[in-house]
Amino acid sequence: MKFFIDTADLNQIKEAQALGVLDGVTTNPSLMAKEGVTGKKNILNHYQSICSIVDGDVSAEVIGTTFDQMIQEGEELAALHPQIVVKIPMIKEGIKAIKYFTDKGIKTNCTLVFSCGQALLAAKAGATYVSPFIGRLDDVSTDGLVLIDEIRKVYDNYGFETQILAASVRHTMHVVNCAKIGADVMTGPLSAIEGLLKHPLTDNGLKKFLEDAKKMQV
Ligand code: E4P
Repeated sequence: MKFFIDTADLNQIKEAQALGVLDGVTTNPSLMAKEGVTGKKNILNHYQSICSIVDGDVSAEVIGTTFDQMIQEGEELAALHPQIVVKIPMIKEGIKAIKYFTDKGIKTNCTLVFSCGQALLAAKAGATYVSPFIGRLDDVSTDGLVLIDEIRKVYDNYGFETQILAASVRHTMHVVNCAKIGADVMTGPLSAIEGLLKHPLTDNGLKKFLEDAKKMQV
């Protein structure tokens, strides 16, 4: 299972990278705006900075909603760095754009996916990643994990190579449950990854070992 961090905060990305288990980064316009990144030049520079910190795929989202806009933006983003994955919304023009980039060998991430049918369409278009937003489904009283399970089943039925990127992960149990179901990737905050570390028995056990170690003559 790949771990992506869902942020445009360079310090958070550096911290996650330093942990040694980071496989990539996802961003979106809201996350970029949160970091105060404005203007085309700064936005492109920011993506390049992210690519210089991590080794894996970095999703950069298009803003345009017509086919032509998405192609123009996506090509510009993809040309920035080999690690860039063009993130495209699940709309009709987006599906056409995903097919276009797939045929050109450019990686894509189909975003804003909330149903199994949408995920099927993204796979048919050849998306590299599909991003079902599990946290946002949970927010509206719908179990996001059920969607991950459904998509896994459908993709396995036909051997689709599109990777299930569980997005909008909010906490550690999302990560664990996505791993149980078989999501290929999860993207979430650093806290969701670091939460995997925690267990009181580990802390108590280490405390005792260190106390006892003082009794040893080393
Ligand atoms: C996916 O790639 C999105 O950037 C993200 O996971 C959305 O998460 P949120 O619902 O916490 O905003």
